Amino acid sequence: MGVTVTFVEEDGTERTFEDVSTGQSLMEVGRTNGVAGILADCGGACACATCHVYVDEAWMEKVGAPDSIEEEMLDLVSEFHKPNSRLSCQIPLTDELDGLKVEVAPTGY
Ligand code: FES
Repeated sequence: MGVTVTFVEEDGTERTFEDVSTGQSLMEVGRTNGVAGILADCGGACACATCHVYVDEAWMEKVGAPDSIEEEMLDLVSEFHKPNSRLSCQIPLTDELDGLKVEVAPTGY
């Protein structure tokens, strides 16, 4: 049984995906399904910040905080960096995250 995740694209469009396999990253779900703004240029290596999302407040505790490397990448997009910023390639999907909702951050270019 997979999990359900929702991305809110920059124009407000909600994209919900059901029965998504765990064990992949949130970024992979977005990229595979063509979610606008999830470019994932580095392929998930925490080296580009083009998979930046804002985690819905209700989910922040379960998703957790970024590590120091991720935090440094987020600083590179500092004008869009918020307290609930995460790089979606660094969020592995688990059963615990069933129902997760994130907003896609502006890419800035
Ligand atoms: S895909 Fe490049 S940092 Fe996430």
